[in-house]
Amino acid sequence: MNRATALACANIAFIKYWGNRDAALRLPLNNSISMNLDHATTTTTVAFDATLNDDEIIIGGQAANDAPRARVVAHLDRVRALAHIETRARVHSQNNFPMGAGIASSASAFAALSLAATRAAGLELSERELSILARQGSGSACRSIPGGFVEWLAGTESANSYAVPLAPPTFWDLRDVIVVVSTTEKRVGSTDGHAAAPTSPFLATRLAALPARLAHVRRALFARDLAALGVALEQDALELHFVAMTSIPPIYYWSPGMVRVIDTARTWRAEGLGVYFTLDAGPNVHLICEAKDADQIAARARAIPDTHQVIINAPGGAARLVPEHLF
Ligand code: DP6
Repeated sequence: MNRATALACANIAFIKYWGNRDAALRLPLNNSISMNLDHATTTTTVAFDATLNDDEIIIGGQAANDAPRARVVAHLDRVRALAHIETRARVHSQNNFPMGAGIASSASAFAALSLAATRAAGLELSERELSILARQGSGSACRSIPGGFVEWLAGTESANSYAVPLAPPTFWDLRDVIVVVSTTEKRVGSTDGHAAAPTSPFLATRLAALPARLAHVRRALFARDLAALGVALEQDALELHFVAMTSIPPIYYWSPGMVRVIDTARTWRAEGLGVYFTLDAGPNVHLICEAKDADQIAARARAIPDTHQVIINAPGGAARLVPEHLF
C-alpha cells in the first residue's frame, strides 16, 4: 500500500475566474490572480490499495456520496491514467474551515488531492504538471499549487493553462480577514455559475476590461500598494456578482448579512483604515488589509451582529507533503 498526505491552502482571488472556454477541461475565459490563505487548509491522505474493490472517499469524517464522490473519483481516474494503474484508493480529507460557505474549499481540496494521489501512485509531477492536473478537478485549485501570490494563465489548451507564482508569501504582509456570515451550503455551486456566465449580457463588458485590470493588479502587487490593489479588488468582486445576477436564470450569492459587512467596512475605510472587500461565490466577505491592521479589523468584524466567525489569513505557502497521515 502506497500512502501519501498533502496539505494545501485555499486561495482568495483578487481577479476572479468566472466562466470557461472549455468546461470539461476547465479552461477559463480569463487569467486570474490570487493569494493563498495560510489558515484555510485541506489535508488529504490517499492510499492506493489492491484489496479495495471500489474507491473509499471520506470527507470531514463522512463517506462522500453522489456528485462530490463522483468528482473525486473522476480525479483519481486522471491520476490512475497518468500512473497506468487501476488500483482503487482510500481517500480521507479534512478541512479546517466550513465547507461550501464562500471559502473556496474545492481549491484546497483538489490541490491537496492532486499532490497526495500522485505521490501515492508513485508519480513525481512538477509544479506546472500538478497545477494542470489540479485545474481539471476544480479550476481555482490550480492556483493553490504554487505558494504566495499566484497568476493562473488561461492558456489556449490544457498544457498551457496553469498557475505560476508571482511573488512568495513573504513578499507582502497582507491579511485576508474572512468574515463568515453564514456556514450553510451555498445554493448554486461555482461549476453551475461558470456554465451560466455566458448568458449574462454583462460578461463581454467584464472580459473587455480584464487585461487592463490584470496589469493594474500585478503593478499594485509588485509595488505593495494596497489602495491601488483595493480599488481593483472591489470592482472585480462586484463584477463577478453582477455577471452571476444577470445570468439566466439569475444566481444570487448576495445576502443581507454580506451587504451589511461590506457597508460597515466602507465606513471604517472612510475613517482612515486601509481595508478593502472581496467576495467569492458565497455569502462571506473577505477583508483585505495589511498585517498591522488585521487584529483591529477582526475585532471590529466580530462586533457586527451578522458575524459567525472571523478567520485571519496571512499569505500561504505552496501545496506540500506532510508526514502525519489521516489514517
Ligand atoms: C468565485 O474553481 O470553485 O471563487 O472549477 O467549477 O470548481 P470549479 O469552480 P471554482 O470557481 C471559483 C470561482 C470563484 C472565483 C475564483 O476563485 O477565481
